[in-house]
Amino acid sequence: MDAIRVRGSQKPLTGSVRISGAKNAALPILCATLLSDGASRLRNVPKLRDIETTAALLRFLGRDVKVDAPEVHVAAGADVRPEAPYELVKQMRASVLVLGPLVARFGRAKVSLPGGCAIGARPIDQHLKGLEAMGCTIKIERGYVIAEGPGGGGRLRGSEVYFDLPTVTGTENLMMAAALAKGRTTLVNCAREPEVEELGRILNKMGCEVSGAGTDVIHVTGSERGALEPFDHAIIPDRIEAGTYLVAACVNDGSDVVLQGVELGDLEALVLKMRAAGIKIEAEGQNVRVRRDGPLRPANVTTAPHPGFPTDMQAQFLMLMCLAKGESVISETIFENRFMHVPELQRMGASIVVRGNTAVVQGVPKLYGAQVMATDLRASASLVLAGLVAEDETEVRRVYHLDRGYEHMEEKLRGLGADIERVKGAFD
Ligand code: EPU
Repeated sequence: MDAIRVRGSQKPLTGSVRISGAKNAALPILCATLLSDGASRLRNVPKLRDIETTAALLRFLGRDVKVDAPEVHVAAGADVRPEAPYELVKQMRASVLVLGPLVARFGRAKVSLPGGCAIGARPIDQHLKGLEAMGCTIKIERGYVIAEGPGGGGRLRGSEVYFDLPTVTGTENLMMAAALAKGRTTLVNCAREPEVEELGRILNKMGCEVSGAGTDVIHVTGSERGALEPFDHAIIPDRIEAGTYLVAACVNDGSDVVLQGVELGDLEALVLKMRAAGIKIEAEGQNVRVRRDGPLRPANVTTAPHPGFPTDMQAQFLMLMCLAKGESVISETIFENRFMHVPELQRMGASIVVRGNTAVVQGVPKLYGAQVMATDLRASASLVLAGLVAEDETEVRRVYHLDRGYEHMEEKLRGLGADIERVKGAFD
């Protein structure tokens, strides 16, 4: 397995970096192609392992998929096999996003339960409850969810669903299921993430009626035509990749970086917290200039569903607060096990105490390079960012986590002047 080697320096980062398309928008949109028969084209798709995994899953299901980054073309194949096997689902939890479209389109689906993952248990009860409300029969057999439309494979019925908590992929799965259901579906207490809004735009392009995507109540009127239209669409920029580079640009004092292709409005909570920490962030159209010229102030954050502070930025922001002058309190409310970067950052000299879902961070004058282990996607990013400022060399192992969600991270950081390289080889 590869590792990433970073030699930290006090040298500021400068220059500009282009932000890629949003992974978490591309994944549900690729799954939405199951609702149509024609040839769809998705543009601005990031070159990532999760995209390859989704392509492999769609191929397994019988679709004809060509990945030619930054474009992906999907067309209907000869036959559909509405079954997502464990081998593919275990590589990527978002594979569960095929459940809604498969059962809506083909009347049945067999999808492996994703199981737990490094950051938490992550159940899918809300997805299943919603499908049942739409007339599905759900059985769990030998680790698989087996869903069948009403009367043994019939068309789903529009319904009213209240989510007990806002879930991003749960909201997306039920929007796609409702897209071919008979009548109108109302989803209440929905996730409001920009990626959910983007899926709403796609479903409208595909010919069903969606309103309210991006708010907590979404209405979907299913198409009467049995299948939706294909589409051609360029996906929105990745707000979490953008947020990660916002933080990267602040680890070294004196940095001055322009991020190209950013929707700053999707990052308000992070931007406000970073400004409170003393960072200068200015929008210039779809470019964002970020500068640090002085010490960092501490800041407290509590993660929350959008528009709250994103859990996917917690590890990177916590790392930044390791360098602030004073104490910051970081609370994680979305996933129960999302502080795995903490022991690794401690090995680099960070001063952090975790109690339950709260980390108390005392800023230190300096971090020190070390060999560290990536544990999940965003934790990996925080370790790379720590390496940018740490004295001497940091080696981040298990970077396959990083490759799931960051396109060419080492090349992008090198473009800003960082001393970073990928080391191919047999690291465990
Ligand atoms: N939850 C339930 N029951 C459900 C569904 C969710 O209890 O049926 C709980 C989860 O366990 C969690 C909370 O609800 O405590 C929110 O989870 P959510 O379902 O919103 O997460 P997700 O849809 O599985 C997406 C992103 C994650 C991101 C979270 C939160 C995709 C493909 N994944 O996951 O992204 O952290 O929303 O914003 O959109 C990442 O990109 O690194 C990543 C993990």
